[in-house]
Amino acid sequence: MFTFDIERISDEVDITLLLDKVFGPGRHEKASYALREGVDPVSSLCLVARGPSGLAATIRFWPTIVRDLITNTVSEALLLGPLAVDPDIQGSGVGSSLAFRAIHSAEAKGYQRILLVGDPGYYSRFGFAPVLPSFITLPGGKDARRLMVRQSASLPSLPAVGTLLPWSAQAAAQSIPTDNAGMAIAV
Ligand SMILES: CC(C)(COP(=O)(O)OP(=O)(O)OC[C@H]1O[C@@H](n2cnc3c(N)ncnc32)[C@H](O)[C@@H]1OP(=O)(O)O)[C@@H](O)C(=O)NCCC(=O)NCCS
Repeated sequence: MFTFDIERISDEVDITLLLDKVFGPGRHEKASYALREGVDPVSSLCLVARGPSGLAATIRFWPTIVRDLITNTVSEALLLGPLAVDPDIQGSGVGSSLAFRAIHSAEAKGYQRILLVGDPGYYSRFGFAPVLPSFITLPGGKDARRLMVRQSASLPSLPAVGTLLPWSAQAAAQSIPTDNAGMAIAV
């Protein structure tokens, strides 16, 4: 009944309409949006679900930067979101199916640290846990208590004290080429 595939450029209008319907016009005020401002999504990881009535769900990923405020090093990570399912079909498993597919696809491509701002009651089923005891702030000082992470056991822990920043070419340019997203780089 539903098919899952990589988002196409032609999906953009329908995705915007769906996000407006699910989150409302105030969605751009969320801290996670400040991390996406002026940054392109990782398009190869962004998936949609299509149903009989058209686009039914969307999940997107963005690059982001974690700055360790003690060592003043930065590392790259992936930011999951938004994830939204058409209210008409919420609760029928589409969100979970889409999220599992997208997370496993990202990890298969070498992204070993995924962060998100969301409800622990929902995202714990995908292996996300609150970043605590790390203290990681978000732009504008908002929503930090809802920050969650899923990462490879081989990666070092998140910084004890850090901040999330929008991805920038400057920080990324200093990164050592690696499939190990999460490696610290000095800045
Ligand atoms: C949250 C959302 C993505 C889930 O997708 P879905 O297809 O509706 O849900 P699924 O069928 O995959 O999963 C249903 C389960 O999720 C739970 N759930 C849904 N929203 C939840 C929330 N905000 N917090 C905790 N659990 C939630 C349901 O209680 C249900 O639990 P169960 O499996 O124990 O019965 C979807 O409902 C949605 O778009 N909601 C509005 C936007 C949103 O909250 N997005 C997530 C950002 S935090």
